[in-house]
Amino acid sequence: MRIDQRTLGWLSRALTHEMRAVQQYLAQSVLARGWGDEALAEKLRSEAVEELGHAERLMERLIAFGISPSAGNLPPSRLGRSVDDLLAADRELEIAAVRLYQEAVTHTQRMRDSASTSLLEDILAEEMAHVQEIDSLRNNNHG
Ligand SMILES: [Fe+2]
Ligand SMILES: [Fe+2]
Repeated sequence: MRIDQRTLGWLSRALTHEMRAVQQYLAQSVLARGWGDEALAEKLRSEAVEELGHAERLMERLIAFGISPSAGNLPPSRLGRSVDDLLAADRELEIAAVRLYQEAVTHTQRMRDSASTSLLEDILAEEMAHVQEIDSLRNNNHG
């Protein structure tokens, strides 16, 4: 199987994003546990595991093409002093994910690569759900 180089670029950028998300959610979970907020720590930890699942699916696709998965440099996790700070940073991360997957899908559709498109669309739908989840956590936090 041959892969279009730009599709490969999108898969690699998506993998970097997912590894970054795993790192950020896990770091925030550790921080929240330190605050004694076990419920938030658990919630953030389970987000990290979900993002890990996305990384795994992208790796499956890369490995099917004979490519060794390699996430790029990860920026530092965005932490903060309050639940609000964490959720604001997470919302930005998820919005960036939605944009990335939308652009990636536009490309793979143009290439008529239906397998990559369906993988990327699945993950896109989950990232959109993450934005909703964070919005409802933020509302609860203010309610
Ligand atoms: Fe993700
Ligand atoms: Fe996400």
